[in-house]
Amino acid sequence: MTTDPIIVTDSLSRRFGDTVAVDGLTLEVYAGEIFGFLGHNGAGKTTTVRLLNGILTPSGGTARVLGLDPVRDGPALRRRTGVLTETPSLDERLTGRENLAIYADLYDVPVDKVPRRVEELLETFGLVDRADEPVGNYSRGMKQRLALARALLHEPEVLFLDEPTAGLDPVATRRVHQLIAHLSHEGRRTVFLCTHNLTEAQELCDRVAVLEHGQLVAVGTPAELARRLWRGLRLEVELAPEGAHAAVEAMRAISGVDEVEWDASTAVVRVSDREAVPTLVAAAVAAGGRIYRVVPREPTLEDVYFALHGESTAKEGLR
Ligand SMILES: Nc1ncnc2c1ncn2[C@@H]1O[C@H](COP(=O)(O)OP(=O)(O)OP(=O)(O)O)[C@@H](O)[C@H]1O
Ligand SMILES: [Mg+2]
Repeated sequence: MTTDPIIVTDSLSRRFGDTVAVDGLTLEVYAGEIFGFLGHNGAGKTTTVRLLNGILTPSGGTARVLGLDPVRDGPALRRRTGVLTETPSLDERLTGRENLAIYADLYDVPVDKVPRRVEELLETFGLVDRADEPVGNYSRGMKQRLALARALLHEPEVLFLDEPTAGLDPVATRRVHQLIAHLSHEGRRTVFLCTHNLTEAQELCDRVAVLEHGQLVAVGTPAELARRLWRGLRLEVELAPEGAHAAVEAMRAISGVDEVEWDASTAVVRVSDREAVPTLVAAAVAAGGRIYRVVPREPTLEDVYFALHGESTAKEGLR
């Protein structure tokens, strides 16, 4: 990955009446990376995607995508970006193949290349068998796959995907994940991915940003964010059933132990400080616990997300 910024925003803002949907957003997205854009419902993700593609004009600040101003150079820019919107509009009366062909024409894909490109995409998205049926007959997931195929027709350099796997079954979800990874790593495309799926973000994204009420609250690799925001540890402690109850109670009583969840054989223990680990093991053993295994687990993006959310809720409580 190079470090050329492909998307640059500076204090980008957008209001709708009294609502500040995007509030002073300053960020850079680099060439070839998969950039995850996370945030609660209404955080401003879709509005940002619209601003970056010149569908909306900003109320303040600036944006550059591929060096172009989305407002002034909108049409030129949109020829080089692919956008999968939240609710893609397809022509339901036309077939899947026709939908793709019309869009190819609209986006100036050379006429001699269209049939092959359409076939390839129908193949990739598993739609060959249904390609000549009206899209009105498609299931939601099939429509989503067709919309994603459409966003790729003109081989865009930057892809904006607004919740691309919403409504997809697990097999289709995995296929889309593989495709996104392939587009990015082998196709050298930059991907801007809005998602609520934290596992998806963790697996796919080189870096993620977390947006809250239109403001950026964190940006970095999933691992960096985890290190920065989650200083604690999560341990799995495997215990023999006999003595387990007393051992769990003993661990709960240790200072620095935030939480102990217990199921039949394993206690999941969250500690705020690594120094609590030897103490809690000793206490569990002293209470009669028989420990087979203690495994530290890496913090996930989910831990980070909830830690961030906890921070901002705590701040709101103080206001
Ligand atoms: N056209 C519009 N007119 C008025 N308000 C709008 C408009 N578009 C978005 N908003 C408001 O801007 C805020 C941000 O909305 P946005 O759709 O960008 O959020 P989001 O992060 O994409 O949320 P979700 O996860 O639900 O898709 C919300 O308060 C929303 O109601
Ligand atoms: Mg949205």
